[in-house]
Amino acid sequence: MKIIICKNYEELSSTAANLIKDQIISKKDSVLGLATGSSPLKTYEKLVDLYKNNLLDFSEIKSVNLDEYKGLTKDNTNSYYFFMKENFFNKINIKEENINIPNGMALDELEECENYEEKINSLGGIDLQLLGIGHNGHIAFNEPASHFSKKTHCVELSESTIKANSRFFETEDEVPKKAFTMGIGTIFKAKKIILIASGKDKAKIIKEAFFSEVNPNVPASILQFHKDVIIILDEDAASLINKF
Ligand code: F6R
Repeated sequence: MKIIICKNYEELSSTAANLIKDQIISKKDSVLGLATGSSPLKTYEKLVDLYKNNLLDFSEIKSVNLDEYKGLTKDNTNSYYFFMKENFFNKINIKEENINIPNGMALDELEECENYEEKINSLGGIDLQLLGIGHNGHIAFNEPASHFSKKTHCVELSESTIKANSRFFETEDEVPKKAFTMGIGTIFKAKKIILIASGKDKAKIIKEAFFSEVNPNVPASILQFHKDVIIILDEDAASLINKF
């Protein structure tokens, strides 16, 4: 596990974008695992800038997103599909057929989960997975539990996640109660993982996840066992860890 501490969110985002750039340059048809939420927004902006400056080409890139709310259509402004189009995909030259996000409107949950897992496998697995981390240590929508989930599945969202995500909705009641999410096993199979976190509010969970024992009650802690993971923090998110 490698930890990079950056001055601020801006520098963190450039660092993450540059690592993603290196991945794309070394393999132009990379499979990128992508996240939504606040953390990666500026990383996406930086990647869009690189694209606009002709320094990156996404024409052969395949993407697989971590998760999607159950019950939201693609054109719902709170769906993760909409988020990804607005903040990233509409601004680069990725092909629509190469974009993969769980279908929030799928009627058969189990079938959708199996198909998504199969899709990732058929692409040859994830080359680089970008992650954020929830205040309770969740990655994707893998909430604290008694065991680490293996594959893509449909979850009930925890109260704390519903609360945290309600900032994007008009009222807390509008936040969907369920979501499709890659499992911890799906994420762990990625060849390379980058987790980004910024802000004082993430400091406590960063310490718990990466400087305490691996524990399914803090799902992100499993990343301590991954052979190629880079944690990129700003000084605020790193403020509770001892720096040597
Ligand atoms: C998003 C996702 C979530 C977020 C996490 C942190 O696709 O899977 O696990 O990464 O909730 O969210 P932010 O970045 O908004 O703090």
